[in-house]
Amino acid sequence: MNSIQFIKTDDSSTGLYNEDVKDIYHSKTGAKKESLEKFIIPSNLYYFEEKLKRKIEILDICYGIGYNTKTVLEYSRKKNINITCIDKDKSLAILSPMIKDNTEDNELRIFIIEMLKSNGIKSSDMYDVLDKYCTLKNIDFFIDATIDFKACLNNFPYKYSAPVNENQKLHNIYYNYISSSMERSQNTSKYKNCNLTFIFGDARGIINNLNNKKFDIIFLDAFSPQKDPTLWTYNFLSKIKTLMHDDSILVTYSKSTPFRSTLHNLGFNIRKTFINNIDMGTSASLNNSSLISNITDFDLSLYKTRSGIFYYDNNFSLTPNEIINNRILAQNSSDRVSHTKFLKKYY
Ligand SMILES: C[S@@+](CC[C@H](N)C(=O)[O-])C[C@H]1O[C@@H](n2cnc3c(N)ncnc32)[C@H](O)[C@@H]1O
Repeated sequence: MNSIQFIKTDDSSTGLYNEDVKDIYHSKTGAKKESLEKFIIPSNLYYFEEKLKRKIEILDICYGIGYNTKTVLEYSRKKNINITCIDKDKSLAILSPMIKDNTEDNELRIFIIEMLKSNGIKSSDMYDVLDKYCTLKNIDFFIDATIDFKACLNNFPYKYSAPVNENQKLHNIYYNYISSSMERSQNTSKYKNCNLTFIFGDARGIINNLNNKKFDIIFLDAFSPQKDPTLWTYNFLSKIKTLMHDDSILVTYSKSTPFRSTLHNLGFNIRKTFINNIDMGTSASLNNSSLISNITDFDLSLYKTRSGIFYYDNNFSLTPNEIINNRILAQNSSDRVSHTKFLKKYY
């Protein structure tokens, strides 16, 4: 993640930009706000909290710096949740508890640190990542506690001084991290019935190995299909379908036509997420009574145009460019009407 830039978004939470992919990780209008509006609310979290007598199982595909996981934990009423977090970039997960993310919940930060630790992330890994990214240039994107936390990770002598105001937060984080009170804090923490499993690597291979596990809510927060269609292909979405119960909900910010037409073809009910009357994302389920489809005849006709042609990656082995180029070839040789002609005809 050398090519990452930190950005302050409009709700004061930190966003990232990737120079390699030339894509943003988070909306400039607010990374935290985006997570709440495009992921947590459309996931119908409270429906599952009311209905299920067991822990809610969530799959967070593309954890990044963890907005969707953090926000769902924060907004959950029962806090009885297991989340499987996947990303190919381990460094981002390590940064996730220390980033300024418009969250005051210190317990949540400590919980994530504990979960990273229990998932095998060593102090030295955390130190290396923070040393690299929490530099003078980026310091404003990290919570104040980061510097002291970094010092603790590097085995600086820990000197207790009575915490004051902001420092209390700071103090708690590294004190809880290095001391045996960590276990105690876990038992009294409001997140004591939550668990995070981190799996780092290419999500295509990882979901292939999740075997018979099923999830109630799946967040799909990959880079946009136009830039990197790897996690939007017919093959990947077919695999996702096998990880869902009939009433599970898949949620994403994407409103792309090939993505929605693939979902439609796979038998999903599709609901467009409207924010201020603008189509801003998608939720989908095979059969959930709380998800009422709002796609129109126009949408269905659009899926039949060239722009509705799917992305394919049969063996989960193609590069983004190969997937994009194969689709262009399929579009060029298709006898379907083009998007432009369809719009002219329709209006
Ligand atoms: C839009 S960002 C996700 C933002 C994230 N949800 C957050 O709250 O910060 C896309 C993420 O997808 C990850 N990613 C891209 N391709 C991937 C792949 N094939 N497998 C796993 N993760 C991938 C990137 O490392 C990046 O963190």
